Amino acid sequence: MKRHIALIGFMGSGKSTVARIVGQRFDMTVVDIDDEIEAREGMSVADIFAKHSESYFRQVETDTLRDALRSEESVVIACGGGVVTRPENIALLNEFAIVVYLNVDVKQALARIDDVSTRPLLAKAGSNDVVFALMQSRMALYEATADVAVGTSQRTAEEVTDKLVERVREAGYDVFS
Ligand code: S3P
Repeated sequence: MKRHIALIGFMGSGKSTVARIVGQRFDMTVVDIDDEIEAREGMSVADIFAKHSESYFRQVETDTLRDALRSEESVVIACGGGVVTRPENIALLNEFAIVVYLNVDVKQALARIDDVSTRPLLAKAGSNDVVFALMQSRMALYEATADVAVGTSQRTAEEVTDKLVERVREAGYDVFS
């Protein structure tokens, strides 16, 4: 049953910030998957990539997502940008969560991320063109996975939250009532 709200989208789309605002407004628990992974593993995401591997990180990400979705109460989940790269994650999200895609353009995304060292894939990318290609390769997955989409480039986090609530309600979900 779709009882949670899950935010997906590229790095820098505002998932963590918007999840916190939704949580405050509706008194819902917020689960930030990257934070959970760091707590579980006792090290930063960047260190997990460096000391283990991306595939190790992806497995922990799937396990963490599955655990978050098991919660009986409705929670707001901020996913990592790469959550859509595993079909298993997409299936889990679509079964248990109303999935909201926060859309951002590449310039805004990079402008919002002041320290790329915390994002190993951005640190590795090296140029804006490579980041854009990564974003492009995921766009169709974000769109196909989402129940609703909200553009974030021209909006503040509060405005994104207003729009998100409006679109989720319009789509007929009553998670906020
Ligand atoms: C990733 C996004 C990051 C984090 C990891 C991988 C990705 O999360 O999970 O660095 O593959 O896009 P944010 O989207 O919260 O930055």
